[in-house]
Amino acid sequence: MTTEPRPDSDAIENLLREERTFAPSDEFVADALVRDPSIYERAASEDGFRAFWTDEAKRLDWMEPWEDLYTWEAPYAKWFIGGKLNVSVNCLDRHVANGLGDRVAYFWEGEPGDTRTITYADLLDEVCRFTNALRGLGVKKGDRVAIYMPMIPELPVAMLACTRIGAAHSVVFGGFSADALADRIDDASCSVVITADGGYRKGATVALKKAADDAIARTSSVEHCVVVKRTGDDVAWDESRDHWYHDLVDGQSSKADPEPMDSEDLLYLLYTSGTTAKPKGIMHTTGGYLAGVSATHRLIFDIHPETDIYWCMADIGWVTGHSYIVYGPLANATTGIIYEGAIDYPEKDRWAQIAAKYRATILYTAPTAIRALMKYGADAFADDDLSSLRLLGSVGEPINPEAWAWYWKEIGGGRCPVVDTWWQTETGMVMIAPLPGITTLKPGSATFPFPGVVADVVDEGGRSVPLGGGGYLVLERPWPAMLRGIYGDPERYEQTYWSRYPGRYFAGDGCKRDEEGYYWLLGRIDDVMNVSGHRISTTEVESALVSHPSVAEAAVVGRTDPITGQAIFCYVILRSGHEASDELGKELRTHVADMIGKFARPKQILFTPDLPKTRSGKIMRRLLRDIAEQRDLGDVTTLADANVVSAIRDQSGKGED
Ligand code: WTA
Repeated sequence: MTTEPRPDSDAIENLLREERTFAPSDEFVADALVRDPSIYERAASEDGFRAFWTDEAKRLDWMEPWEDLYTWEAPYAKWFIGGKLNVSVNCLDRHVANGLGDRVAYFWEGEPGDTRTITYADLLDEVCRFTNALRGLGVKKGDRVAIYMPMIPELPVAMLACTRIGAAHSVVFGGFSADALADRIDDASCSVVITADGGYRKGATVALKKAADDAIARTSSVEHCVVVKRTGDDVAWDESRDHWYHDLVDGQSSKADPEPMDSEDLLYLLYTSGTTAKPKGIMHTTGGYLAGVSATHRLIFDIHPETDIYWCMADIGWVTGHSYIVYGPLANATTGIIYEGAIDYPEKDRWAQIAAKYRATILYTAPTAIRALMKYGADAFADDDLSSLRLLGSVGEPINPEAWAWYWKEIGGGRCPVVDTWWQTETGMVMIAPLPGITTLKPGSATFPFPGVVADVVDEGGRSVPLGGGGYLVLERPWPAMLRGIYGDPERYEQTYWSRYPGRYFAGDGCKRDEEGYYWLLGRIDDVMNVSGHRISTTEVESALVSHPSVAEAAVVGRTDPITGQAIFCYVILRSGHEASDELGKELRTHVADMIGKFARPKQILFTPDLPKTRSGKIMRRLLRDIAEQRDLGDVTTLADANVVSAIRDQSGKGED
């Protein structure tokens, strides 16, 4: 937590002292979708759970009805068995058919200030045109298509066109490096890459086509590369493989038949970091995913599609953008905002100018962004009218109570419930969060599992920890949007999530429950860091470091950071003949950024002659974390050489960015 004085910090402290809990206001309750707390009890029994999801799924358009609601042969679930539907039809066609063609799907704002307003009818037209273009390139049901794009409207268009065809998309966040993109293209043998010449970030352009070219050169499956013209920067061109998006869609029909998809057909892959260097291709399927994200979006954000202007500030390249910028909101016929650039560029209050301009009613962002805005202070957006806001959301990492209270008071004006939503790429949908019309909030707690979700907090041996205690979060009952596996690696799927507590989903998060049963998420308990809400594996950074010619050995830990939650802290042993220096530290940080992506750039490199290891040769990460945090070292007797610790300690604090 930051210790810098802020003009408003006193007021926040008072808020936390005087008012520990926040019940929904009468004004909010009056219009809330969920006002009856019995929803939890009703969805708890097996019959009630089935009734809940039957009703939710019936809100979607099915080409053929399902026969069975779900089957569960741990660890494999199937949902809406036998049902057929198409995701793009549910997100677009049915709304246009219902007379909502003129409703705005997205207000889009480019970083340089250009804007586009896209209605549901416009979006359907564009998706159909691009569907026809992709079909013209030979893309068909079951193919995998990589998407590596900035936050421009063509990104959701490309995703929806894939769903119309039944090809699985694999969106790779535009901040990833060419190497990271190549690994992901390779893992799924993608036949097409959709990218842009570049994108805008803090006034500069990011050369996406160049990175895509480098990635494709390292892989063998790609037949076509489709390029959206965004920045106009010069790009290299391979006539046999590259196509401009605008040339491809030009003259295409705005009608395109949607593929009837089986409920359990693959919808998309999204890669996420695990505890090894190889990212996991998380598999999501069609019917269960769409039912899960549309229900959670509607009920947790209390969506009133006729009046709400909803802004999720995440990047579509992460799961939050998939579920809560694209699929959930479009399935609910919501009007959303998409912004291309950095929220504080060119002015600190760019985000507030956008929220004010479009009269946003709902904001959904990450604690790291809230803390960054807190640092600027509320004065930075004092001139922007945020009175349209009525609900705020948080996601990606534990939100510290101080940031929660500041968000509630300074951005929400003390009017807006804050829904802290816990979930993962793997869960597909939010699993633990308030229902804002009925839940009394506590700053820093994600409150309770969503109706029908059965969670528990268990100890090492898998015994449920009584209220008041902490342990590991597990999920007991299947849910419609749950992952169906890891692409090409069923063993890893079973091993990672289902082997520790057989039959129960192991989330990898620590959690405590207070006496009233509120869930307080405590962060990862495995070797996964959470930097600005992005999951980064320590092993992935270590293997990037040792791929540098100067590095013999590396150990990486996450260190608490006042803004980004955690920051990447690296212990590095150099090969003989290499000297520790600030320049080399800088070079290594850049090397990691080149290998993985800029968001994985280490904060600190500590050169050390040795690393603390147990007698069996395992690096003692707990100790390294403690050193990084400058905590007391505790018991070090299992160390091979206790001198190592003091040598490391003497140097810690040096080499910071
Ligand atoms: C963390 C992002 C505390 C958690 C949607 C989880 C959170 C990981 C919260 C998943 C929250 C996400 N409170 N921790 N509200 N939301 N996390 O896959 O450690 O990028 O396991 O999905 O983020 O990150 P992922």
